[in-house]
Amino acid sequence: MRRSCPLHPPPDYARLRREEPVSRVRLPGGASAWVVARYADVRRILTDPRISADRAKPGYPFLTADAEFLRQVRVFVGMDPPEHGPYRRMFIPEFTTRRVRGLAPDIRKSVHECLDAMAAGPRPADLVTALALPVPTLAISKLLGVPDADYPRFATLTATLMAEPDPELRPQGEAGFRELVGYLSGLVATARRSPGDDLIGRVASTHVESGALSEFQLVFIALLLLFAGYETTANMITLGVVTLLAHPDQLALLHADLSLVPQAVEELLRYLSVAELATCRTAVADLEIGGVRIRAGEGVIPLAASADRDESAFAHPDRFDILRTESRHLAFGHGPHQCLGANLARLELTVVFTELLRRFPTLRLAAPMAEIPFKYDANLFGAYRLPVTW
Ligand code: HEM
Repeated sequence: MRRSCPLHPPPDYARLRREEPVSRVRLPGGASAWVVARYADVRRILTDPRISADRAKPGYPFLTADAEFLRQVRVFVGMDPPEHGPYRRMFIPEFTTRRVRGLAPDIRKSVHECLDAMAAGPRPADLVTALALPVPTLAISKLLGVPDADYPRFATLTATLMAEPDPELRPQGEAGFRELVGYLSGLVATARRSPGDDLIGRVASTHVESGALSEFQLVFIALLLLFAGYETTANMITLGVVTLLAHPDQLALLHADLSLVPQAVEELLRYLSVAELATCRTAVADLEIGGVRIRAGEGVIPLAASADRDESAFAHPDRFDILRTESRHLAFGHGPHQCLGANLARLELTVVFTELLRRFPTLRLAAPMAEIPFKYDANLFGAYRLPVTW
């Protein structure tokens, strides 16, 4: 279903919520699945034991043919309870508020460096390459324990993951992916010999050492963290700027009181729900949702971007209102797989928007909305480039 405005989910979602809250859709590969549009149903599905997150289960709704390789990747985002819990618990200590706060000085420094470079560079600037991509890359590299000397290589490899799907621009996509796996394998092997005070070091010296996790699994979990935390956060930064600039009244509230930024971040998360297709599932037993019978082996796509605009859960859901008090949005998912990196994402977004508003109070788009290359073709909504000036 196509969007008609980059700041709103496809208009069909509102029709589905009203008329056909659980509806059959055809996937690009030809298979079919159930799309679930209402807030209460989406929440229920994400905690229902008859619904599985296991990509290897028959009927899992892959949205693109090249995502099918995920069938073979066994990391905890694709596991069900009780297998899922012990793996997730190994990583929970790495994402507590206290641990994430420890990354704040590095994140703040990287935001300042990006903004200094932007201020010193030509106008218009591309906000995606100047700010939205470098900040999550730096945050994840610090989280994992990428040494400073390796950072330029890590950043280049990461950037190939997000290049435009144009063979001219992305000639070595697969080779780049293999190189990234090779790089992370080296990082894990080094951490086993001399563990640093970082995620890979700590997990290698406890869970890999005890045999609870293999080196290979840790490499794939590092990749999961990169996939989960990079493009999501980058898209939130880019679309967050577009949203704020499109709502001058809300922007004025923030300029008057920057302590409102964390609240604005929460509203941006709800309003944009960029990872709307991150929660695909399969039914493993027959069940009924919204009066519709779903059978074991059928794919289920809970639409967070629709749920977060459901008028039965949020007053005036299409209004972007940073003073909104209800914040039970589903942008980070819900239930056992709820985003593990939410604290880190919130920190990054808060620092980015606070500093950007402080340093560039006259920031504005340097192109009409219609000319901005939004990612209408991607599973995670965002923009490839965002020309801004000030
Ligand atoms: C899971 C969204 C940032 C790590 C999820 C899920 C969503 C989500 C919707 C649920 C997936 C499911 O139910 O299958 C987002 C958004 C982000 C963000 C919108 C940015 C604004 C991050 C960051 C990290 C991260 C920065 C870590 C570096 C994870 C992990 C999971 C996850 C590990 C899987 C948890 C599990 O299966 O137990 N995220 N995420 N995310 N996210 Fe995030």
